[in-house]
Amino acid sequence: MDKRALSTIRFWGAATSAHQVEGKNHNQWSRWELQHASELAKGASTRFASWLPAWDRVSSEATQPENYVSGIAIDHWTRYEEDYEYLSKMNMTGYRLSIEWSRLEPQSGAWNESAFEHYRSMLRALKKRDISPIVTLWHFTNPIWFEDIGGFSKRANIHHFLKYVEKAIVELGEHLEYVITINEPNVYAGLAFVEGEFPPNQRSWWRGIRVERNLVESHNQAAKIIKAIRKNILVGIAQNVSHVRLGNKRPISRLMAAFQQLFWNEYALNRTDDNVDFIGCNYYFSDRWTGGLKPDNEMDKISDMAFMMRPADIEHVVKRLFAKYGKPIIITENGVADANDKFRKWWIWETLAALSRAINDGVKIDGYLYWSLLDNFEWAHGFWPRFGLIAVDRSTLKRTMRPSATWFGGVIQSVRLSSEDH
Ligand code: BGC
Repeated sequence: MDKRALSTIRFWGAATSAHQVEGKNHNQWSRWELQHASELAKGASTRFASWLPAWDRVSSEATQPENYVSGIAIDHWTRYEEDYEYLSKMNMTGYRLSIEWSRLEPQSGAWNESAFEHYRSMLRALKKRDISPIVTLWHFTNPIWFEDIGGFSKRANIHHFLKYVEKAIVELGEHLEYVITINEPNVYAGLAFVEGEFPPNQRSWWRGIRVERNLVESHNQAAKIIKAIRKNILVGIAQNVSHVRLGNKRPISRLMAAFQQLFWNEYALNRTDDNVDFIGCNYYFSDRWTGGLKPDNEMDKISDMAFMMRPADIEHVVKRLFAKYGKPIIITENGVADANDKFRKWWIWETLAALSRAINDGVKIDGYLYWSLLDNFEWAHGFWPRFGLIAVDRSTLKRTMRPSATWFGGVIQSVRLSSEDH
């Protein structure tokens, strides 16, 4: 990896989202978890037992219904000071967190001022440590009242989200420099409305596209509201972007690859381009197309959560994004589920080497935020996938730095020092 190239990156940090870490949230997810925990626990063996390399290790947790209920999560809501100490220990300068709409507006139009005050304290606690917050306003969770009127599947509901955005910026804006309105419109529309894996478990292409269009529209209007209140805030979305590879030259492979590029990677980015200051890129996987209707990946290096690991492909992803949109890129999520910490260091090393090659070729990268700071609640998989730099013991909630975290902290320090050299 080329440290001089990497030293042009402004933020070094990690990311989390509210529902995955805070605990005691009451939203459409917490309601759904209670209704579906047993079914998810039963389904895990059917889904993974025959082929997931990590299955023997994770099966006892993955088959327990409790694993699928976020509950107290990792109690980050009360332990945030302790958790931010790890950011400082790793010499980090940026932290991506999300604020939870259902806490801030538990009933339509009824604001919870103490929750705003709590987030203000969190933002101050970051500032005290010289860490810039990158704040996401919506990361997959809806207040129950919003879900029950149809959530983002109805265009007429968007104004509720916009009111929340306005209030959030009025209340918290003075502490914010970077705001991400919507996390991964493609993942939410795809998993909640096409594949039926996330609440509300719908399976309809048509509805999926409608939801994604509504999320895009929500972003475009939200960005204008944010700028009208505080014109200095830089606004973006975080998009899950995969690297798309052609396994052969068959027309069907080309067609499927083009389809993934357009509908998965670029649909939302193309439609928000006029209203973003930066591109938030969440990179986890790469897909190879060889003629079938599903990707045909090599599956030689598989993470605990069954993602095929090709970290270096991020180079192609950021080059393509920069060539197409010409905006600075923040890697808003990137990481690996790896309880034994066997691959994480390798993953980060490969990623940073790839990013330095892209930077040397002219790509502007403004931030690198590892997913995740801490082990957390991984949505429909529950707690068993361990993404954290910091391990969290499920029964005691005790935090422990994984070896890769100590190593990554050293890398950040030496990159930052090399930026002082010139
Ligand atoms: C989401 C995160 C999630 C991560 C790992 C991303 O799609 O934004 O919330 O934990 O992937 O699966």
